[in-house]
Parts: sequence; structure tokens; C-alpha cells
Amino acid sequence: MWSFHWGRFTKILVLLPLILVSVVACTLSFSSPLTWRNKSSVLSLLISDDHRNQPLNLLGEVEELSLHKHLEAQNPVYSPSDDQNRKGEILQDSTLSLNGGNDSIIKTKIIRRYSKLEMVEARLVKAREAIKQAARNRNLTSIHEDPDYVPQGPIYRNANAFHRSYMEMEKVFKIYVYKDGERPMFHNGPCKSIYSTEGRLIHEIEKGSLFVTEDPEEALVYFLPFSVVMMVQYLYVPGAKEYHAVGNTLVDYINIISQNYPFWNRSLGADHFMLSCHDWGPHTTSYVPNLFNNSIRVLCNANTSEGFNPKKDVSLPEIHLRSGEITGLLGGPSPSKRPILAFFAGRLHGHIRYLLLEQWKDKDHDVQVYDSLPKGVSYETMLRTSRFCLCPSGYEVASPRVVEAIYSECIPVLISDGYIPPLSDVLDWKKFSVQVEVKDIANIKKILMSISQSQYLRMHRRVKQVQRHFVVNPSPKRFDFFHMMVHSIWLRRLNVQIQD
Ligand SMILES: *[C@@H]1O[C@H](CO)[C@@H](O)[C@H](O)[C@H]1NC(C)=O
Ligand SMILES: *[C@@H]1O[C@H](CO)[C@@H](O)[C@H](O)[C@H]1NC(C)=O
Ligand SMILES: *[C@@H]1O[C@H](CO)[C@@H](O)[C@H](O)[C@H]1NC(C)=O
Ligand SMILES: *[C@@H]1O[C@H](CO)[C@@H](O)[C@H](O)[C@H]1NC(C)=O
Ligand SMILES: *[C@@H]1O[C@H](CO)[C@@H](O)[C@H](O)[C@H]1NC(C)=O
Ligand SMILES: *[C@@H]1O[C@H](CO)[C@@H](O)[C@H](O)[C@H]1NC(C)=O
Repeated sequence: MWSFHWGRFTKILVLLPLILVSVVACTLSFSSPLTWRNKSSVLSLLISDDHRNQPLNLLGEVEELSLHKHLEAQNPVYSPSDDQNRKGEILQDSTLSLNGGNDSIIKTKIIRRYSKLEMVEARLVKAREAIKQAARNRNLTSIHEDPDYVPQGPIYRNANAFHRSYMEMEKVFKIYVYKDGERPMFHNGPCKSIYSTEGRLIHEIEKGSLFVTEDPEEALVYFLPFSVVMMVQYLYVPGAKEYHAVGNTLVDYINIISQNYPFWNRSLGADHFMLSCHDWGPHTTSYVPNLFNNSIRVLCNANTSEGFNPKKDVSLPEIHLRSGEITGLLGGPSPSKRPILAFFAGRLHGHIRYLLLEQWKDKDHDVQVYDSLPKGVSYETMLRTSRFCLCPSGYEVASPRVVEAIYSECIPVLISDGYIPPLSDVLDWKKFSVQVEVKDIANIKKILMSISQSQYLRMHRRVKQVQRHFVVNPSPKRFDFFHMMVHSIWLRRLNVQIQD
């Protein structure tokens, strides 16, 4: 499991040469001014730290920021992107001597045409600079004005940088959705199941409510609108050992996209994203190596042992919306009305649950662990009368219990291995949750009892504060689940520079 020593990690550089692609990894703090410039190459400014399994520290530690200068030096006069009237043309005054024999100097104008891509990248250069500047202010409170919400307090790794980044996203982020592919497996997804975040997010992007553009030339990212849940439903033969039909459909789809549009080949997928809450999401993407290795994969199954890479992939919360809505799920009684120390109810799925049930089922009145709840006991009531809610991984790392706990104002206790929790790029999970390593399952009671009442009250307040970022509104609102997912995608895109 990860430990939270954000301040201590040292930065490393990773150089990954691919065919026609140069991916340069450096720290998020952009402290290493190493760039790689080549025609038809991807310059990727990734974030790296030496703690495997750790979420990236995009908005936490920011130090000397010299990369940007370096970028500017390599991309001279690359900035007047805000000036829409120029439509990609930048005029440079220049003096030239035209006819050799004649010393009279003629003043002329050279017209340099910038591609749409260069304009897009120039916008990102500016956004990066603004965020880096905001990050230097180490205040825990954002200094930006905002009519809706001002991020503040220790739940954020850097409230000011987050707020700046969020506002930059609102200014410049644009998503293009490929029209190719047909329902039910494309442009569609489940909205009332354990996988509902997959469907809800696909639907909202399809509806155009989240920074969607019709012009692929001005997009910063390209959405591949397939649903793994729907593909499994329609293509997988129950009982079969393999699911090549699902993987091969994806291969065909990416072939169509790469043949019909220039964008996939240009970046080898680095500015493309897919999303899935299905357990098989990661494996399905492995059928297309560039999708697996380069693209932004938004996955519930954020298991680092299955190739989840927090530098480029996004952890999607699993939220079980039985009715498709969150009505009635939000809120809970005050700490004094929560007599139970810790609670879990769930089936014996996977080895972590096995250990938990074996250790605690019917053993202790303070740690109430069930594989099925006794008759007449309501699951929701248990969430609302417990101080800590245990969220062990099941067959895969993510658990809908994490968000259920947050909704009902119970402190989530994450018991997992190799799981990167959602929004780890922005939120400091140790401030409002407890992480218990699998080997410490026997010590759960001791660990929770050692948390003082005042520390518990602080965590309870913070869980309430963090709720807004997990709320699935009927239609998206600023800073909610939808926008936070898009913000996570935006952060990954900020770390890649694409060139023609
Ligand atoms: C630039 O790309 C070409 C292929 O497109 C490659 O042969 C060459 O080695 C690359 N140069 C550098 C410096 O990466
Ligand atoms: C130099 O070129 C200018 C403009 O073409 C012309 O007016 C001028 O007479 C030329 N001078 C000489 C010395 O050739
Ligand atoms: C914190 O923010 C205030 C403005 O709200 C500013 O005056 C102060 O310099 C900041 N402190 C640091 C360390 O950046
Ligand atoms: C992209 O590359 C693939 C194979 O590498 C090729 O078949 C396809 O035609 C290319 N697409 C475009 C738009 O050039
Ligand atoms: C991703 O890249 C690594 C290193 O190049 C490679 O070994 C691996 O097979 C790739 N993954 C997939 C799914 O192709
Ligand atoms: C995470 O992935 C590894 C490798 O596939 C697997 O062994 C492990 O069981 C996964 N974790 C969970 C909780 O599924």
C-alpha cells in the first residue's frame, strides 16, 4: 500500500523512446528542463516520483519551475493565442535586404501561419505557467474569487493551484467526441448499476454538457465513446474463458479512427481518452497497445498491478446508483449519534474480504462485519450510525463503499493493495480517510481506536467538505463528480505536448 510522504519523494527522469514517439517524463514540478523535440514526435511532460503505486503529485509539491522557460525558448513567439482575430497568423516585423547590390533596406512583413495545433499548445503553455505560479503560493486557501465555491483547507494538496487549474480548464478545455460507432455499445452506457459512473459520464459527454466541441481541430482531447460494460453485455459469451470479441471490436474501432482522422496517428493516442467502470476495462484496453500505454484511461479498476499508471490514467470512482440518482443518499447524523465504531457488509469477493470476514465476522461488537446483514437491519442505517466504514477491495480494487461512506458522512477506511483512489491528484486522502494495509486487517480496531476524538471530528468535517466532488448531479454542476473527472483528464493532458 502507499504511504503518504508527499514531501519526501525525489524526482526522477524517465525516458521512454517509442517508435516515432519520444516521451519525456519529468516531474510535475517541471523542475527538469529536459525536452525532446522532433517532427512527428510526442513531447510528454509527465509527472514522476520514486514511489511506485503513489498518485501523482500534480498540485502538491511545486518547486523551481524552469521547464516553461525552456519550452518558450524552443517555441519562440508562440503565445498570442488569445487573439482570436488573428486566426492562426502571426505577423512579425522584420528587416531584410532584398536586392544585394542596393543598400536600401526594405521593411517587409513575414506572415507565419501557425497551425491550429500550435495554437492549442500555446494555450496550454500559458495555462501551465498560470498553474505553476498559483502553486508557488503555499496557502491552503485559494485566493481566487469564485461565485460557487472556493477550495480551501487541508483536504486539498494545494487549494490555490487546484482552483487556478480548474479555472484554466474552464477557459480552454475542449473535448471532441468521435461520432463513429453505433449504439448500444458506443455513445451509451449503464446508468443504474454498480457501473453507473461509466454510463453517466459517457451520457453527459455525449449530451455536450462538458466542454465538448464540434471542431476536432480545436480540441485538446479526443473521446473514444465505447462502453466496456455494453460490449461485454452484447459480445461476451457467458462462461467463455476469453473475451476476444470485446477486445477485437475495440481494435477495429481504433483502426477506423486512425484511418479516418489524423489525430490518433499524430499523438499515437496520447491526447485520446476512454472511460470504463467495468472490471475488465484495463484488460480490454490492452488489445490496443497504444491505447493501453499512451492514452488517458479513466478506470474504476485503478489497480497499479494491472497497468494503471497514475501519471496518465485517471481513477474513476465506483458509485452504485440503484435508481440512477443520488436522491436520499447524501447526508447523515452528527458524530454523537454514531455508536458503532466500524461497519462492513458485503459478499466474500476476493481474498481481502476473505481475510476481513475471517478476522472480524461475529467477533467484536465495535467492528461489525457481515457477509449478509441480519433481517430488519438496513444497510443505509448502518452507514449512518457508524463512525468508520470499511471499504475493502472485492474482485477488483475499487469499491462503491468509498463513495457510499463519503455520502453518508462516515469516514472511509480503505483496505486495498495497489489501488489509486479517485482525485488523488487534487485531494489529500489521508486527511479524510484511513488506509489500512492488508497485513494490518487484524489491527483494525486498534488503529481506529487510536484516532483521537478531535482528530475524528476533523475528519468528519472534511468528509462533508469533500462530498461535493463526488456528487453525481442530475445535470453537471461546477466542482461535482463530472467536472472533477474532466479536471483529472485536463491535468493529464497538460502533461503532454503534441506536435505535428
Ligand atoms: C526524429 O525522428 C526520426 C524519425 O521520424 C528519427 O529517425 C530521428 O532519430 C529522430 N531524432 C531524434 C533526435 O529523436
Ligand atoms: C534601390 O532600390 C530602390 C527600390 O527598388 C530604388 O528606388 C533605388 O533607386 C535603388 N537604388 C540604387 C542605388 O540602385
Ligand atoms: C497567502 O495568501 C495571501 C493573500 O490571501 C498573501 O498575501 C500571502 O502572501 C500568501 N502567503 C504565502 C506564503 O504565499
Ligand atoms: C495512421 O496509421 C495507420 C497505420 O500506421 C495507417 O493505416 C493510417 O492510414 C494512418 N492514418 C492516416 C489518417 O494517415
Ligand atoms: C506497453 O509498453 C510496454 C513497454 O514498451 C510493453 O512491454 C507492453 O507490452 C505495452 N503494453 C501493451 C498492452 O501493449
Ligand atoms: C490487482 O491486479 C493484480 C494483477 O492482475 C491481481 O493479482 C490482484 O488481484 C488485483 N487486485 C484486486 C483487488 O483485484
